[in-house]
Amino acid sequence: MGWLDGKVALITGGGAGIGRALVERFVAEGAKVGVLEVNAGRAEELAAVLGDSVCVVTGSVASFADNAAAVQRTVEKFGRLDTFVANAGVFDFFQPLAQYEGDQIGAAFDELMSVNVKGGLLGVRAALPELVRSRGSVIFTISNAGFYAGGGGPLYTASKHALVGLVKQLAHELAPKVRVNAVAPGGMKTELSGLSATGTSGQSLSQMDGLDTLLKDITPLQVSPMPEQYCGPYVLLASDDSVVTTGAIINTDGGFGVRGITGVRGGEGL
Ligand SMILES: NC(=O)c1ccc[n+]([C@@H]2O[C@H](COP(=O)([O-])OP(=O)(O)OC[C@H]3O[C@@H](n4cnc5c(N)ncnc54)[C@H](O)[C@@H]3O)[C@@H](O)[C@H]2O)c1
Repeated sequence: MGWLDGKVALITGGGAGIGRALVERFVAEGAKVGVLEVNAGRAEELAAVLGDSVCVVTGSVASFADNAAAVQRTVEKFGRLDTFVANAGVFDFFQPLAQYEGDQIGAAFDELMSVNVKGGLLGVRAALPELVRSRGSVIFTISNAGFYAGGGGPLYTASKHALVGLVKQLAHELAPKVRVNAVAPGGMKTELSGLSATGTSGQSLSQMDGLDTLLKDITPLQVSPMPEQYCGPYVLLASDDSVVTTGAIINTDGGFGVRGITGVRGGEGL
């Protein structure tokens, strides 16, 4: 028996990284899963591997029509929608403000925010009637960058801080019928990619030299987790064991919040 038996979820950006791990974990927990994925090759591969357990729609979270199509196709195939996971995101590769040309900032901001923030708003709006019907829930993927400096550049950090506000506002607005929560993962080696506006759309985090070592050095728990290791909190928030939880954000980042003033970790004498 799985934690999500009989549940139906829709996960954005399910073609790679944590989204892909979530699709597989939700299916393993007994759920049926719709996916909205912009990369057609990843969408096809996912449908081929997971077959009837998934309903994959190719499109962008930045389009309301694509979000609405993903909701409609998921409900047509699986009959209901219990959880919408607003997960798709893009990255600014830590680019500091001073390294942007002035006339580049607007386009980079629009491109990043349209996926990381507007994508979540459009998706929740598209899913809302079905979530109200099922008394369902929303889960946002935030990041350590929603809480601390240096987890990205100013655009990415602003987008993830914006999601912290959205979780609170939407949890307030949608109670008592729909719960709204989030998971804030730390770093992981994924295909997280950049922006056309800065020429980094072909770059991915997985290409970054020394990422594993860096993550182990900067986290109190000395971890460089795989996407699969971040899935548990999403399963918990989507399950009936969380029916009294809304407006909550689970920080699962190796302990960035307890790095300490004098050193990254304690551990003396252990
Ligand atoms: N990788 C990390 O270190 C890390 C850390 C914390 C939070 N996150 C967050 O996790 C989420 C997933 O990122 P990931 O690291 O798994 O990246 P990823 O690139 O491996 O996976 C994201 C998927 O989303 C898809 N996608 C991108 N733009 C889209 C759009 N407009 N519409 C639909 N699909 C789109 C991509 O094609 C990709 O398949 C993001 O919100 C990211 O900010 C990542």
